[in-house]
Amino acid sequence: MPSFMEPFRIKAVEPIPFPNEEERRAALVGAGYNLFKVAARVVTIDLLTDSGTAAMSAEQWAAALAGDESYAGARSFERFESVVRELTGFPEVLPVHQGRAAERILLPRILRPGDISASNTHFDSTRASVESAGARALDLPVSTHGGTPAPFGGDIDVDALAGVLAGPDGKRVRCVVVTITNNANGGQPVSVRNVADARTLCDRHGIPLLLDASRFAENAYLITQRDPEYAEMTPREVARVVFDLADGCWASLKKDGLANIGGMIAVRDTELALRCREQLIAVEGFPTYGGLAGRDLAALAQGLCEVVEPDYLRYRAEMARWFGEQLELAGLPVLQPTGCHAVYVDAASLLDHIPPHRLPATAFANELYLVGGVRVTELGTLVFGRRDPGGGPDIPAPRELVRFALPRRVYTASHLEYVVDVAEEVRAKAGQLRGYQIVDQGGALRQFTAALKPEMTS
Ligand code: F0G
Repeated sequence: MPSFMEPFRIKAVEPIPFPNEEERRAALVGAGYNLFKVAARVVTIDLLTDSGTAAMSAEQWAAALAGDESYAGARSFERFESVVRELTGFPEVLPVHQGRAAERILLPRILRPGDISASNTHFDSTRASVESAGARALDLPVSTHGGTPAPFGGDIDVDALAGVLAGPDGKRVRCVVVTITNNANGGQPVSVRNVADARTLCDRHGIPLLLDASRFAENAYLITQRDPEYAEMTPREVARVVFDLADGCWASLKKDGLANIGGMIAVRDTELALRCREQLIAVEGFPTYGGLAGRDLAALAQGLCEVVEPDYLRYRAEMARWFGEQLELAGLPVLQPTGCHAVYVDAASLLDHIPPHRLPATAFANELYLVGGVRVTELGTLVFGRRDPGGGPDIPAPRELVRFALPRRVYTASHLEYVVDVAEEVRAKAGQLRGYQIVDQGGALRQFTAALKPEMTS
């Protein structure tokens, strides 16, 4: 029995597809063995991402219907702006259509060619924006030797940051970015202490501290669970403590906005906001809609209120914990502790007969699809590995992980029980799985377009 209950009942339903084995195989072959290219209509349980996949509440749909579609000064923007101001304390609020649009607008206003952005981990779209400004994205995650350290495995390595700031490159560091939660590092939370320490260093060196707050509510909830100092505070209050330590933030609201599209920039600095607004008008739209419809802003404003509700966040974290536990009971190597937005499985230890350049994480992910129509993401050498300039085998990623992302309020415990059954079946035949070869790949972000083929012998 699950240890939690979904804190909602279901009002609108959507059928899920049940392709048979032959249809699944044909879909995977047709997609060049790349799950990103498999059509959703042949996916039974889709755990590819928690981004833009949330189920909206009745209140959000009601707000969307009442959305104000005025080009300038819409009511829906006023509500969105006031909800974001109250939540974050940042006076300047700019809506954008998704997280990477925020990054594309904000980061080049701060970074110049040759500068450095230092972070616990830049998400890949964040890194792309830093690099397109001609700057370097420097990741300084806390050490994860021997697994993910509890309780705050998402932290930035403050000693390493202090070292960089005091070193020869120190003057080139133009901002510190703390990603909450740290998606690229197992979805682990960042502690208040860690953000405060980063703040102290930023003050000492006169540089801004920015948050990638895409999962700010999940981070705040995990702080209430893992730091006794904050156990008595609400997630909303803890979120505010964290925002108060920063100079500004951006977020993909496709996550903790509980909606299917949206993003934001929120900062204290009026002059920076002015420069961002000029760019916003050029690439997204007028500052009171920023690439969104009024109805999107209305749904987001409501979503941002619902996402900090303790009952919702408790369910969200408990569901991930329980799902991780069930996968472990089924014999799968799960990264512990689980966060909120996904459960990560270590494919390298499960498929230790497949070397990294033969993509064990891809082999595991593809088999989950073949066995049960379950779609997950590979976060191994296909995503984080690099081509060997000398033409040898790919340079492996540090880890071969598979991410079972959890869309918000979409799947119930019984859907996840089905996923556990499928994963158990795959585990039982892990020794027989074969690796993959890349037959066609693009440059950056090759995981989205690559074509693969299974190896004949492992
Ligand atoms: N920052 C973080 C921490 C993210 O996880 C993402 C997206 C973005 C920024 C970019 O936001 O997609 O709205 O442009 N993460 C998704 C994922 C795609 O599956 O983890 P976006």
